[in-house]
Amino acid sequence: MDVGVALEAPLPGALIDVADDEKTAHETPAAAEGVGRRRFLGYAWKGLAAGLAIEAGWTTYDILNPQPSGAFGGIVAAGSVSDYPAGAVKYFQDGRFYVASSDGALVALYQKCPHLGCRVPFCESSGRFECPCHGSIYNIRGEYIEGPAPRGMDRFPLKIDGDRVLVDTASVVEGLPHGAHSVSSEPKGPSCIASKAAASAAGPKGSSTEKESANG
Ligand code: FES
Repeated sequence: MDVGVALEAPLPGALIDVADDEKTAHETPAAAEGVGRRRFLGYAWKGLAAGLAIEAGWTTYDILNPQPSGAFGGIVAAGSVSDYPAGAVKYFQDGRFYVASSDGALVALYQKCPHLGCRVPFCESSGRFECPCHGSIYNIRGEYIEGPAPRGMDRFPLKIDGDRVLVDTASVVEGLPHGAHSVSSEPKGPSCIASKAAASAAGPKGSSTEKESANG
């Protein structure tokens, strides 16, 4: 004998709950197409939002962790802290600056003389920066000692990141005024420009050193 479940026929006009699958199965092709389009747009918007969130996160990371560009106008990597024992001075031509170490501190000095813009070399024998154009002299920290310069050498912000030395050449910090000395300004030996200054005094003005000025 067959055993079955008797199903009552729904009353006319009664609400009937059916599964989505059944609904879809009974939807017209046009309605199904509409549902598919809405789902596609929903996925597209979610994908777009996720992409924008990733982009925003990456931009924030870039701002907080600037990568060295290696050239003047950006962040320049200047080696590691261990490269700078006391008294060390390293020149970075592409970045147009020196990094000098003295009394346990590092300073990044713009190569451009604040007087008329000549490049100021570091004199190893005297331990000072000596401008060959008009004789301005600065100590190892770029602090003004003598000559026509209106102030000490300009600087760049310097940051230690782990062991890396990073110099931000995008912003110039004006040098210290006359008389501001934080380290000794005494020469440790002969001046590099003394002989040139004597030769200039004896000869006509407009020496070759003046013509190589304005290096930026
Ligand atoms: S440009 Fe350096 S002293 Fe004049």
